[in-house]
Parts: sequence; structure tokens; C-alpha cells
Amino acid sequence: MLKCIDLSVSYGPVPALARLNLSVAAGEVVALVGANGAGKSSCLKAMMGLVPGKGGLELDGKDISAATTRSRVEAGLALSPEGRHVFPEMSVMENLELGCIPRARARYHDLVEEMLTLFPRLRERQKQAAGSLSGGEQQMLAIGRALMSEPKVILLDEPTLGLAPIIVDQIADLINDLRERGIAVLLAEQNAEMALGVADTACVLETGMLVKTGAAREIAQDSSVRSAYLGAPSEEESA
Ligand SMILES: Nc1ncnc2c1ncn2[C@@H]1O[C@H](COP(=O)(O)OP(=O)(O)OP(=O)(O)O)[C@@H](O)[C@H]1O
Ligand SMILES: [Mg+2]
Repeated sequence: MLKCIDLSVSYGPVPALARLNLSVAAGEVVALVGANGAGKSSCLKAMMGLVPGKGGLELDGKDISAATTRSRVEAGLALSPEGRHVFPEMSVMENLELGCIPRARARYHDLVEEMLTLFPRLRERQKQAAGSLSGGEQQMLAIGRALMSEPKVILLDEPTLGLAPIIVDQIADLINDLRERGIAVLLAEQNAEMALGVADTACVLETGMLVKTGAAREIAQDSSVRSAYLGAPSEEESA
């Protein structure tokens, strides 16, 4: 459903992502894990056309590498950005409405109802200013806003950052739900434990380079990944 070919991002002379190749199928969750500054957000932003990237990008078999952000969203790509970026002075309902693009407008009422069912806390707070919500609720709103465009592919940037373990579990459940709906999910996370637990496939980024990729279950057992990202030494090291 989403495929990037030799995707590179540089900020002036500083390379942030070097020739990344990855693909995400419908109903697949791919985790992009790596430390601070590894290039996860740069990757997602370049896919959305929010920072200039080089290389190929295909959505459902269509080349979107030269498309504007607006057309990428119309084509079925959505982002829930790192830091949530809800509009704080607008209500929950208004934030959801902003996510409803022309293609989905005829289904606006059904989509809102779907989001309020998916996130019951948002139903209770639908008239409240988004800035007054808790961090977890704002995260739900950011994801709900992205889902209002009925995406084929959703990019989730650090959806669990700073959230309590119980909310992290709810986000993991939500990601499983998105997979069951057949949405392709690309999940950028510093929380490797959560990401590798929920994903089918994992890509490990280090300073903009893909250093490992494979089944998430296997990557989670990899000794170098365990010691670098899971806070647990490999059996070899602890022996
Ligand atoms: N707008 C920018 N201008 C210059 N350099 C940038 C810019 N945005 C990111 N960078 C640099 O690009 C590199 C990758 O950053 P990026 O935000 O993509 O990493 P990340 O993996 O998302 O990190 P984090 O886990 O902290 O969110 C870093 O070295 C960062 O300093
Ligand atoms: Mg980031």
C-alpha cells in the first residue's frame, strides 16, 4: 500500500535519512524504531511532503513522490504528528472536522460518530477546547483527526510519548484495531517495547540508516536491539 524507494532527507548539509527502502501492506503494522535523532520523524514528514525528500514514494501503486501534501492526503495518506499538534483553542469536534477532507465530506456525520465511538472520552468532551484535554486525550484526538480522512495508510509519530502505561496499552489496542480494518500503519516509536510488541515488521534506524529489518518478533529477540532499545542485555552479555 505504501512503498518508499531510496528515500533520503537532508537539512542543508546534514543528512537525516539515507536511502531508506520500506513498504507497508494493507492490514500490516510496520514499526520504525530508533533513538533520538535517528530520522524517524524526518521519514514520516518526507512521506507527507512536509519536508523535501529525494527518492520514490508509491501509494497503492501510484507514484506520489512529486505530489503536494494536500494531494497525498486526498490519495489516502494521513499523519498523526509527533507532539499531537491539535488546535488548542478549537473544540474537539472542530479538530475532528478539520481532518475531514473533500473526498470524505459526504460521510462527515458517520465519520464523526465512528470517532466518538472509537474514543468515548472524546464524546464526553466534544465541546471542550482541545488544549484543555489530557495528553492521552489529545493523542486520541490527533489520531481521530487523521482517521477522519479515511486513510489507506496512517503514519503515527510517537503516539505514546509521555503517556501513562494504561494509555500506552490503549494505543496498542487501537493500532490492532486499525490493522483489522485493513489500514496500513507505519508507527515511529522510541518506545521499542510497545512498537515491537504490536508490529508485524520492524525497521531499526540509526543516524538515518536502516540497520536492521525483519519480523518484529525476531527483531525483539535480537541481542543488539535488546541492549540498545529494550533496556535488557542480551543473554550473551549478561552471562
Ligand atoms: N528542521 C530541521 N532542520 C535541521 N535539522 C533537522 C531538522 N529536523 C530534524 N533535523 C535533524 O535531523 C536528524 C533526524 O531528526 P528526526 O527528528 O527525524 O529524528 P527522530 O528519529 O524523529 O528523533 P526523536 O525520536 O527525537 O523524535 C537529527 O539530527 C535532527 O537534528
Ligand atoms: Mg521524531
